[in-house]
Amino acid sequence: MSESQKGTSELISGEGLPETLPESPLAIMHAWFEEAVAARRTLNPDAIALATADARGVPSVRIVLCKHLDDAGYLVFYTNHNSRKGRELAQQDQASAVFHFDAFERQIRVEGRVVQSPESESDRYFASRSVISRIGAWASDQSQPIASREDLLERVSRAMERLGVGPSDVLGESEVSVPRPPHWGGFRLWFERVELWAGGAGRIHDRAAWTRELAGSDGEFSGGPWSATRVQP
Ligand SMILES: Cc1cc2nc3c(=O)[nH]c(=O)nc-3n(C[C@H](O)[C@H](O)[C@H](O)COP(=O)(O)O)c2cc1C
Repeated sequence: MSESQKGTSELISGEGLPETLPESPLAIMHAWFEEAVAARRTLNPDAIALATADARGVPSVRIVLCKHLDDAGYLVFYTNHNSRKGRELAQQDQASAVFHFDAFERQIRVEGRVVQSPESESDRYFASRSVISRIGAWASDQSQPIASREDLLERVSRAMERLGVGPSDVLGESEVSVPRPPHWGGFRLWFERVELWAGGAGRIHDRAAWTRELAGSDGEFSGGPWSATRVQP
């Protein structure tokens, strides 16, 4: 590095990405995610904006929670498989998502392909949810219109009756058995591209992207080697 480059580097220094990019982005990604979750400087540090597209390529985006980041290079979110996002993913398995760790001036963008999580994994996660969240998964046809809030509450009451759950079970969080609805579960978003963005002074941010190919079919992917590139901010 020349003297003048050193001077410039001091001017715009911040906690950026390593000068030599690691082969894989996953270790930094995990560290950033864990740091943000542990710090809890926002209510939902695990929130991601998830973009899907319909068969014509028209995009839609919404917030979901990233409940797991896996070392193999995928993230997991849970939802209703018949929701708008679920129906779009059934037709077009490509999706992208972004994490924004505002307090840390960091952003992670991911792009890749989505498959349903194994049933046993969805069962385990569903069983860990609060009683009322489990009831809600039965009561709500997510993304479908409903005439009124009153009608929605009626659907919740009916679901409770059907499942044999009383108000005291909900309030007391007692050990009631509520099975997972077949239309509700996890999705794994397997990364084909990961981009890490670290804010820098004077908007000279630090940005790098890693890409790889996914191999496999029928929901069983594995990732090939990563290729890394620094990107202008
Ligand atoms: C902070 C936050 C977290 C959310 N987490 C989830 C989630 O994990 N799963 C989910 O299905 N919806 C979640 N939602 C609701 C979604 O944003 C969205 O309204 C819903 O999934 C229906 O989207 P769709 O009609 O595009 O399928 C969350 C909303 C917010 C604001």
